[in-house]
Amino acid sequence: MNTRTYLDNAATTPLDPEVFAAMLPYFQRKHGNASSLHEEGRQARKAVEDARRLIAEALSWDPEGIVFTSGATEADNLAIFGLARSRPDRRHIICSAIEHHAILHPCDWLEQQGYRITRIPVDTTGRVNPQSIADAIDDQTLLVSIMAGNNELGILEPIREIGELCRARSVLFHTDAVQAFGRVDLPTESTDLISLSAHKLHGPKGVGALAARPGMRLVPLVHGGGHERGVRSGTENVHGIVGFASACRLMVERRETLVERLSGFRKQLIDGVLRIPGTRLNGDRSGSLPHIANFSFAAIEGESLVMKLDERGIAASTGSACSSPNLEPSHVLQAIGVPIEMAHGSLRLSMGQQTTQADIDTLLRTLPGVVEDLRSISPFKLGDS
Ligand SMILES: Cc1ncc(COP(=O)(O)O)c(C=O)c1O
Repeated sequence: MNTRTYLDNAATTPLDPEVFAAMLPYFQRKHGNASSLHEEGRQARKAVEDARRLIAEALSWDPEGIVFTSGATEADNLAIFGLARSRPDRRHIICSAIEHHAILHPCDWLEQQGYRITRIPVDTTGRVNPQSIADAIDDQTLLVSIMAGNNELGILEPIREIGELCRARSVLFHTDAVQAFGRVDLPTESTDLISLSAHKLHGPKGVGALAARPGMRLVPLVHGGGHERGVRSGTENVHGIVGFASACRLMVERRETLVERLSGFRKQLIDGVLRIPGTRLNGDRSGSLPHIANFSFAAIEGESLVMKLDERGIAASTGSACSSPNLEPSHVLQAIGVPIEMAHGSLRLSMGQQTTQADIDTLLRTLPGVVEDLRSISPFKLGDS
């Protein structure tokens, strides 16, 4: 029996057994290369193209524009570098200060090559003001990239408004929808590029997609056999792509009930955790993804909190998975103005389709004692921060 309580679904979600079952034949019997001409190859090609159509349908997108990648990090990089290389005349990119590192670091790299990068600040809940984007656009602007839902705070960004204003100014708009896809409606009609990742949707790791408007020129990052209409070479990850589509189909089918259940759990988490003295919610109660809640605890190190919870059978995180081993406080918490000592004491709780009421009860029963124990040995006092 699994006695663990897994509350780190924003880092990754457990593979759905139905998704696993859909993938299995493509590891074994249906092992063909999707570029081969024979029966096995044709079978693999059909699986890839069926998956492309299914994912496109979930996004109301043209299947021609779906490019399979190794995940959202590659999709984000392809959006930024692929466009920058195709339009070298435009050397200005706008993003928010709280984007994932898969956006921020490519932008940092381009900045070193002489690009202008405008990093739009956010308010104290993490929201971007669309007017700041309108003000930042100029005739050099190549792309605006604003995530749909933040992976640390859960906050939803006003991407419909931002997409519409970009379109009115003839500037391309990209959104990293890794956490939002399958959980909220995406205004795909006012978006030019969307990044997705399967493993945040109870699908497999190592596969994702960039949805781009068909006909948009993206210079490839990976050159080779010309797969994915020449945009992304490399033998297709057939079993991964099949799993991605299967996860996507299940997410669409289950979304309504799942979102309702997780929103209820999120409210319980917020109400329960804020009863602990010296605690703050990072982000907002409303206008947020249903599965992510982020807190800070005064006079505590987030890493110690995560380790103590782990000892008691609870998996959580201090922030994004990528920054967990890093002692720098999260750039997201700094951007929303969380005082540095509080930013060091952060805890992100994130739920998935397997989360039960018992998980929420376990967390709320365990956390106050763990916080109290850590504070009793902390050199800082509650009133210090
Ligand atoms: C918002 C966001 N973008 C991008 C990524 C990277 O996705 P992948 O793990 O598929 O590369 C993540 C994963 O942490 C994420 O949460």
